[in-house]
Amino acid sequence: MIIATTDRLIIRPFVLSDIEGFHRYRSLPSVNRYLYSEALDLEACGVVVNRKITESSITTTSPVLSLAVIEAATEVLIGDVFLGWPRVEHSQAEIGYVFDPSSTGQGLATEAVRWLVGFAFDEVGAHRVFGRCDGRNEASVALMRRVGLRVEAHLLQNEFVKGEWTDEVVCAILDLEWYGVDSKCRHRSVDWLGRVDLSNP
Ligand SMILES: CC(C)(COP(=O)(O)OP(=O)(O)OC[C@H]1O[C@@H](n2cnc3c(N)ncnc32)[C@H](O)[C@@H]1OP(=O)(O)O)[C@@H](O)C(=O)NCCC(=O)NCCS
Repeated sequence: MIIATTDRLIIRPFVLSDIEGFHRYRSLPSVNRYLYSEALDLEACGVVVNRKITESSITTTSPVLSLAVIEAATEVLIGDVFLGWPRVEHSQAEIGYVFDPSSTGQGLATEAVRWLVGFAFDEVGAHRVFGRCDGRNEASVALMRRVGLRVEAHLLQNEFVKGEWTDEVVCAILDLEWYGVDSKCRHRSVDWLGRVDLSNP
């Protein structure tokens, strides 16, 4: 079971008692504005949280990790993060994150996503971590850039979401870049192809 702490957060698997807190922010239209999802009622939140409870670890046969983000000082659920491992043979991991607007603007989401990206490289063995968002979601792009991801692509009207054509921005960071930007990371050797040796922590 994954339970992590950062300076201000506890990041842990979902539990049934998270349904109410999850509903508090997932029921807001503003939170869902640039997501594929719509605002969820309490019953729908129960279904989603029950599914997320089962996504508490990540393996090649269970390639989705969903975790609850708790503010340590208040012990309140303030958001959730997601790590997908859709292309196992290519070691590509996808991040996702949704936070309660009452907790944003303090760097808490950035702190959670920074932990998530480190986890993807250190523990899952990702070679590349990427995130995708609606081209209008400036807060999401800014967050990924703060964590160290580069904007790799801005795809024009490549999706039809909620009745309109939407752009998609793809941001990513390679293991080599991550270990270069994170001064706290362990030294990894790099082979001639630029691959980081993950077998030698
Ligand atoms: C995307 C989302 C998580 C970004 O939230 P956010 O508040 O911008 O991110 P953070 O909580 O990390 O806060 C960053 C802000 O706090 C500031 N900040 C304060 N202290 C900070 C610290 N210690 N570290 C980093 N930033 C800090 C930053 O400067 C930034 O301020 P700014 O927006 O004025 O530039 C949020 O908008 C959200 O959940 N949206 C709805 C769901 C969604 O769209 N998810 C993404 C799908 S792709």
